[in-house]
Formats: sequence, structure tokens, C-alpha cells
Amino acid sequence: MAKTSNKYVCTNCGESTATWSGRCPFCQEWNTLEIQINDLSTANFVKSSNKLKPLKIDQAMKSKEQRIKSHINEVDDVLGGGIVRGSINLLAGQPGIGKSTLLLQIAYNLSKHSRVLYISAEESLHQVGLRAKRLEHSKSNLMLVSANSADDITSTILTGNFDVVIVDSIQAITSSQVSSGSGSVSQITFCSQIITTAAKQTDTAVIIVGHVTKEGSIAGPKILEHAVDVVMQLEGDRYGGFKLLRANKNRYGSTNEAGIFEMTSSGLKPIVNPSKVLLSERQISDGSIILATMEGTRCLLVEVQALVNPSTYGYPKRTSSGFDINRLNLLIAVLEKRTKLKLADQDIYINIVGGMQIKEPAADLAICLAIGSAAKGMKLSEDLVTFGEVGLSGEVRHVPYIEKRLAESKKLGFKGAIGPNAKANEKLNSLCSVSDVRSALNKFLS
Ligand code: TYD
Ligand code: MG
Repeated sequence: MAKTSNKYVCTNCGESTATWSGRCPFCQEWNTLEIQINDLSTANFVKSSNKLKPLKIDQAMKSKEQRIKSHINEVDDVLGGGIVRGSINLLAGQPGIGKSTLLLQIAYNLSKHSRVLYISAEESLHQVGLRAKRLEHSKSNLMLVSANSADDITSTILTGNFDVVIVDSIQAITSSQVSSGSGSVSQITFCSQIITTAAKQTDTAVIIVGHVTKEGSIAGPKILEHAVDVVMQLEGDRYGGFKLLRANKNRYGSTNEAGIFEMTSSGLKPIVNPSKVLLSERQISDGSIILATMEGTRCLLVEVQALVNPSTYGYPKRTSSGFDINRLNLLIAVLEKRTKLKLADQDIYINIVGGMQIKEPAADLAICLAIGSAAKGMKLSEDLVTFGEVGLSGEVRHVPYIEKRLAESKKLGFKGAIGPNAKANEKLNSLCSVSDVRSALNKFLS
């Protein structure tokens, strides 16, 4: 008889080992190894009497999802037009960013037309009540409860009495069927699974709050993100500035939309014209460049500031706020090699105004021009914006949505833009094309 060998598979990272241990040797999570009997032979598969019944794609396309609108346009857009009935939505973000505030606002709006239950596992009813008072809403049918048991939450969802259930947060609830503490991988996995099953059975939409780790990724097992239908993230600076709501995954819509909010004394308020707000306090000086960046399908004009100072120590300091430090070091290296700027003995500081986080490669040219402008002590013409990716040879590369970027800058009174060469089919007269950083610095900063 063939020898059957067992293996242990980690429920967190999926790696397998031959022996069991309390901690996964690959991802270092505790208590995640599970036995998997390893005699999978294609010869002894079980013949099932249930045959699959495929459907033509045309028929499948006819089914339409039902959406519940929150009437906060930013939120509805990010969700792809509203919360889909029976969908599981995950909202993640840093502590104190405003997840509970946003959800309470959404819950209020939804409760005007739907039956909504807000389950707070982190706060007492009194605390939620105090927050609700600050939001200054009128009378509402919104139901509140403070609970920690995932089993109770599941049975409540199974009654089918609610259209939308909000669980704040998945890290604070536990099921009696799992022995580990709240927030552990096995608790999160199990609780999210039972809630998902109950929600799908009763066609209840669920919004789950999730914490993020120090590095900014969603805490808990990756399986949580796989299992839910929509993953939204609320990002931004905790202490003022804009908060951005983005969908990282959306089974019912695009992930291109982003909602921009600001925390006020009465909750999160959507910002209608963010570029105008971001540029309102601008002082035109050297090292200040306006970048036309895309946030989803929307164009935003953001000020990029650079400060270049001689280093007092042997090792020059490079600091950036709102821009990836590794990318900054790369761009400084490109500037050193491909232009005549001497930056090896200079401290360089980069700041993106308004607490924005810029992740787009189209910001490269703006960063290079800001450093060039600060190093030379020369201002860039105040009616120009910039965008463009910079390669290692110093070449300026094409970026998407050039027309949108130009349109937004025109709307805010800018005359033109410094950017990459337009493609043959793009006729853009307000675009001053540059082919590489060196020519950009020579043309606009001399
Ligand atoms: P909160 O929504 O509790 O954050 P999270 O659930 O993501 O941890 O609150 C975020 C912060 O917002 C909190 O520090 C207080 C502040 N806040 C306001 O400034 N205005 C308001 O109207 C509310 C409700 C909160
Ligand atoms: Mg909270």
C-alpha cells in the first residue's frame, strides 16, 4: 500500500511543512497550521451525482444587482453606484482616521429608506450616541447595538430584519467556537466567514470595519480581503488634511473612483473642488511646483515643495512627506547623473502640501523640477503645471489622462503644462513637451 504522508498547511500564508508547530515557520503567525491529508490521487476521485448546470453568459448578464444609495455621492461613486444588496464590504483605515464617523454618516443616510443596524463592538452605545450628536442629524430610524459576539451578530443578520448591517470592527468580535482571542487570524477568518454566510443567505448588505497594520496594510489574514466583495480604504493624514476614500477591490464597479473628504467639527464633509482648496494658500517661491495628478478618474492639482540646503554633516539628508522616499532617492540619482545639478552635498526635503500621498509615477517630473528650482533658487513660471514620469536615462515618459490634466489646470487658471511628448493622435496646444529632465531644467529654469 502506498504510504500516505500528511502535511500541514498554513491558513495564513498557504505554505506547507511536514511537521506541525505552533508557529508557521514562513509567516510567523501563531496557530495557523492545519493538517491536510496528502493522498490526492486522481484515480480515486469521488464521482458526484450532481452535474453542474452552466448558464449562457447572455442569461447571466440579465441579472441585475440591487443597489442601496447612501446619497453621499463620494461614497456611492467609490462603491460603483451604491451598496449592493447581499454584498460584504470592508472599510479599512488607520485608527482615528474617521472610519466610525463615516460609517455613522452612511448609516444615517441609509436609514432614511432602509432598515439599518449599526453594531459597535469597540465602543459603548453612549460613545456612539455622543458621536451621533456631533454629526447633527435629524431624527432617524437607525438602530444601534453594542455587541462583541460574532455568533449573536450572525443570528441577528439571519433574522433578515435588516437591509444593511454595519460591524465596527472585525478585530473586536469573537466567536465562542474559536478559542483564540479577538483580532487573531483564526477569529477574524471564522467570524468573517459566518457573517458572510448569514449575509448572503438573507441578502443583507454588510459593512465591516477593519484595522490596518503599522505598515498600512489591512490587519488579519489576506483571506479576509479575498472573501469580501468590496475593499475600501480611508487614507490620509490623521491630523487634518484630506481623507481619501478609495476602493482597492470592487466586484461591482471600478476601482478608479476616489472620494475626498475633510474632517470638520460635524463629521466628514465631501470636498467639491479639492484643487482650489489645495492651492488656496500657495506662496510662489523657488522649489514650489504644481503637479497635475490623478486621484482615480479625477484630476487634482497639488503643490509639490522642495527645499535644498547644504549638508552640515558628511551624509546628506533626504526626507519626504507624502512621496515615496525610495523613489525620491532614485530621482535624485537621475538628476545627479543626467543634469548638471550637484546634489551630493545637499540636504533635500520634499513636501506634498495638504497631507496628500502621491503614488503616481506622473509626479516624477514635478519632483525633479521642484528640486531643480530649489537648488538653483529659481522660480518656475507661476501659470504652469507639470506631470510626467522620469526614467533612469532622464527621459520624460508618457502618462495617462493628459487631456484631463490639462482641462483641470485650465479650469483653475493655469495657461499650460510641462509634460511628456504627446502621442500623435493628441492635439494639445497648451502642452509644452519636454523629452528629458535636462532640457526641462534648461528650458524652464534658467
Ligand atoms: P473615528 O471615526 O472614531 O475614527 P476611527 O473609527 O477611524 O478610529 O474618529 C476620528 C477622529 O475624528 C476622532 O479623533 C475625532 C474626530 N472627529 C471630528 O473631528 N469631528 C467629528 O464630528 C467627529 C465625529 C470626530
Ligand atoms: Mg472607530
